[in-house]
Amino acid sequence: MALPRRIEGYAIVSREGMICTGDRVFPPELKNDADQRFFHDGVGRADAVANGRHSNEGGPHADERPRLVLTRRIAALAPHPSHPRALLWNPMGASLAQAWDALDVDGTLAVVGGTDVFGLFLALGYDDFFLSRAPARVPDGRPVFPGVPAQTPEDVLAAHGMIKRAERVLDDRAAVMLAQWSRA
Ligand SMILES: NC(=O)c1ccc[n+]([C@@H]2O[C@H](COP(=O)([O-])OP(=O)(O)OC[C@H]3O[C@@H](n4cnc5c(N)ncnc54)[C@H](OP(=O)(O)O)[C@@H]3O)[C@@H](O)[C@H]2O)c1
Repeated sequence: MALPRRIEGYAIVSREGMICTGDRVFPPELKNDADQRFFHDGVGRADAVANGRHSNEGGPHADERPRLVLTRRIAALAPHPSHPRALLWNPMGASLAQAWDALDVDGTLAVVGGTDVFGLFLALGYDDFFLSRAPARVPDGRPVFPGVPAQTPEDVLAAHGMIKRAERVLDDRAAVMLAQWSRA
């Protein structure tokens, strides 16, 4: 039974470490063209995507991508009702290896959120997590990981054995930074 060769996470967060508002709206303050390009390039190179029921990467190729859609509405694994290349997956009923086998792909899995899905894969183990930070304020939003904002996203990554390998400015004018966190 196989696992993804690589697991990569992608998120952009507010000052408080939030990925969206409390009512699950992705706020325009978090949308940045340079980050969107980086994100879509990364997801485009991946062989499959994992996301919760309220998230996906969007874009013209989203419907064609092999995808694991996490949901507790099924017991283990089931065909997606509308996307032939997607599977519904409940990790309580099927392991990642079982889901990956059922998806029948090889290579890199890109994890695109939201909160609990990012959190689940912290335990399963990212090879890289690409964390973008925007200077926007999104108080009372949904955090990138369970445990934020009591801890910062960086604290959570470090507590899961990740180290910051690189950091760069993604958008100078908008003051958006990108950090690559890698398995230590
Ligand atoms: N800023 C960013 O980088 C970023 C990234 C991703 C998403 N977002 C935004 O965040 C919002 C959605 O995030 P979200 O956290 O509310 O939703 P989400 O993770 O996309 O969806 C939550 C749903 O996914 C399922 N789920 C999540 N974890 C699961 C688990 N461990 N096992 C089984 N099912 C699981 C559940 O579906 P059921 O209810 O069917 O059981 C849950 O209700 C959207 O606005 C999106 O645009 C932003």
